[in-house]
Amino acid sequence: MTDTLLAFTPEVERRTRPIYEKLKNFVPRVEWGLMAPIIDEINRLKVEKNALILAHNYMTPDIFHGVADIVGDSLALAREAANTTADIIVVCGVHFMAETAKILNPDKTILIADLEAGCSLSEGITAEDVAELRRQHPGAPVVTYVNTSAAVKAVTDVCCTSGNALEVVESLDADEIIFIPDQFLGRNIQKLTKKKLHLWQGSCMVHDKFTPSEIRALRSVHRNLTVMAHPECPPEVVAEADYAGSTAQMIHFIEKNHPQKIALITECSMSDNVSVPFPEVEFIRPCNLCPHMKKITLPKILDALRSESPAVTVDEDLIAPARRAIDAMLAVKPR
Ligand code: 13P
Ligand code: SF4
Repeated sequence: MTDTLLAFTPEVERRTRPIYEKLKNFVPRVEWGLMAPIIDEINRLKVEKNALILAHNYMTPDIFHGVADIVGDSLALAREAANTTADIIVVCGVHFMAETAKILNPDKTILIADLEAGCSLSEGITAEDVAELRRQHPGAPVVTYVNTSAAVKAVTDVCCTSGNALEVVESLDADEIIFIPDQFLGRNIQKLTKKKLHLWQGSCMVHDKFTPSEIRALRSVHRNLTVMAHPECPPEVVAEADYAGSTAQMIHFIEKNHPQKIALITECSMSDNVSVPFPEVEFIRPCNLCPHMKKITLPKILDALRSESPAVTVDEDLIAPARRAIDAMLAVKPR
């Protein structure tokens, strides 16, 4: 547990003032007195220990704007993990993201604030399931969403994220592809490619709950609404949206097109985080919480950095084959 000795001194108040300016719409002033010393101590420890904090776009704003060095979607975090010179990487996201960082940096210490931060997609498929799919579809290469365990990545030909799934599929010299484990991402990509995708029945417990009628109801209340959906949503939901893309691609769309009123059909913290650099945009917030992402909190990050635990481990014999699949993904040229 984090100690209570951290104090909201005038120095802490001064150092954290620029962060508070970003967070003031989310954090009541009274809470800031407790939060600011934790943020300040995490930022001090990062320098002392040459640690890098990678944070996914679904982290709460106090983490995203308060302590993260790099923020982004799964693809951006994997790329950063592959290139860092830090001694310690703290992954603020879910377990498969920390495993990816470990596979790319087996000699570094990779920390995650809560080892229980899982993912319904990752937990829905095993390496044995992949072997069975290969038996059913002989010769078809396996494209695996990064939201999977190291064991599944190790029996994969090439990984993908929601930001590059189409490019990865198109890069393969094959007409039939085993695409796992997200059935909805698979069906959304199937609409964009002539290749035949063999799918698995996995889904994201956050995105599979959105419905087309929810989107239609939003549009009937909000005129000129731009709806952006994550491709883990069912295709019927994506069909109601103006744009579908990874969390980072949604942000690029906003930067480029400046919509005035937006509904991001994805995890709840995304709108909070993106609203900070776009104060002129009105965010309508229909959202679902990811209970796994929400296990990561500032006090747990501080404990992890102080104790350098829990550290993420990956079986020695999985590292090389899983890395081949991740490297094959990182080698695919973006469009
Ligand atoms: P991206 O950030 O890659 O779009 O992924 C979303 C997600 O659900 C990660 O768990
Ligand atoms: Fe997994 Fe969905 Fe949570 Fe992402 S949002 S970590 S895909 S359960």
